[in-house]
Formats: sequence, structure tokens, C-alpha cells
Amino acid sequence: MHSITAEQLKQLNDQLKTPQDVLKWASENLHPRVAMASSFGAEDVVVIDMMMKINPKFRIFTLDTGRLNQETYDVMDKIRDKYNATIEVMFPDAAEVEQMVRVNGMNLFYQSVGNRKLCCGIRKVHPLKKMLSTLDGWITGLRAEQTEVRSVAHKMEIDQQHNGILKINPIIEWTWDQVWDYIKKNDVPYNKLHDKGYPSIGCEPCTRAIKPGEPLRAGRWWWEDDSQKECGLHADHGK
Ligand code: ADX
Ligand code: SF4
Repeated sequence: MHSITAEQLKQLNDQLKTPQDVLKWASENLHPRVAMASSFGAEDVVVIDMMMKINPKFRIFTLDTGRLNQETYDVMDKIRDKYNATIEVMFPDAAEVEQMVRVNGMNLFYQSVGNRKLCCGIRKVHPLKKMLSTLDGWITGLRAEQTEVRSVAHKMEIDQQHNGILKINPIIEWTWDQVWDYIKKNDVPYNKLHDKGYPSIGCEPCTRAIKPGEPLRAGRWWWEDDSQKECGLHADHGK
């Protein structure tokens, strides 16, 4: 288990300037008890490219909800091939999913915010918690611009929601344009849905393309009117 004080963390956040500095530190100090949580969106493939160049054995896991787009599986395999990476795929607990759809139907998420959070809880949050219980740190592709909750996040923080392990957000300060510059310059495989008007990609039934001028996350759970939409991976819903 890491034993980093709040004061040390503050110093590290000051000292480690670039995403690569942060990832090198994670590789030297936490590997193999650190892993990247990847949904293979634009931010995540950038972080993966950086990670593979620093330590080809860096761990990557994904939460396969069972409701992802084909394009997401396509980019997963492209990343796997390009970097010769092992992707640790986490599935939801089958009994939990069976019980949930038996009681609420296959498309329960459209019925109420409560049902939507139940589904995200069973398909994403529970498998995430299971994986994180085995780690000292996790790496994300979060960016401050994405939501209000994320705007106050740091490159490295203690994750109170997950047993106080380290949460590492190497590109937290990056803009959307920086992400795409990196993808183009480094020829990183990306999810083809980005070419079809999807800036933010989650599950197939819960994500749609956005119109020009709409906020980048407007296509996520588009039928809900809450402007701070999160699925519970990064914000506690009090459950
Ligand atoms: S969400 O909370 O709204 O679903 P978002 O799609 O913005 O999250 O992704 C933010 C970060 O959460 C990603 O950069 C990635 O680190 C992690 N993440 C999101 N979805 C998954 C997933 N299915 N599997 C693994 N990590 C994920
Ligand atoms: Fe379920 Fe939709 Fe959440 Fe995916 S995004 S876990 S389908 S509610």
C-alpha cells in the first residue's frame, strides 16, 4: 500500500509537470499495483499511448458493461494489436444483471434516473470497485473541462471513494484540441464514433451524437436533464 501524505502529494503535483512525468512516477512507484481504467475514448487512447511508451507492461483494464458499441470493441482490439497490450476486461456480476433485468426489463435506464443509476452501478461501478480493491492506484483519462466535479480534480489525488488509493489523472489539464493533436501526431488508434459526432462515448443505448455547438457530454444520458451527469465511477451518488 502506498503511504503518501497530503503534503507529499501536493509536492508531487507541483513537481510532476507533464503527463509523461506523472506516468513515469506511477510506473516507478506503483507498478504493477496500478492500472489504467479505459473506456477507449479519445482521452484514454492518448494516455494508453503514453503509458506503452514508458512501460509496455503497464496494466490496462476496461469495464465491459455488455452494452458497448461495436466501434468500441474495434478500437479495443486495435490498441491490443498495436501495443501488444493485455487488456483486462471486467464483466459485471452475471447474477446481479440477471436479477436487475428480470425485475426491471432490458431498457430500464430510460424509465427513471434511479433505474439508470442502478444499471450503471451493477454494470460499471461494482466491477470497478472490485478491481480497485486490488490496486494501490488507478489511472484515468479525466479532463477538468468535462464536468464541474472534474474541474477541481488534480493530476494525483487520494481517492476517498476507493479506500484512499491514488487516483492519477495525467491529462486533467489538457484541452480537447490537445487530445486530438496528440492522436494525430502519434497515429493513435481511436474510436470511429468520434468521426460520427460522438465526442464522449459510453454505452450504446445511453450515448448519442451531438449537434454542433452542444456541450461535449450532451449526448450522454441525453434524456436526463441534470447538467452534471456522472455514472458513479467518479462521483458518489450516495449509494
Ligand atoms: S463516465 O463516468 O461519464 O462514464 P467518462 O466516459 O467521462 O466517464 O470517462 C472518464 C474516465 O473514466 C475515462 O477516461 C476512464 O478512465 C474511466 N472510464 C469510463 N468508462 C470506463 C469503462 N467502461 N471502463 C474503464 N474505465 C472507464
Ligand atoms: Fe447501463 Fe446505460 Fe449506465 Fe451503460 S450507461 S451501465 S447501459 S445505464
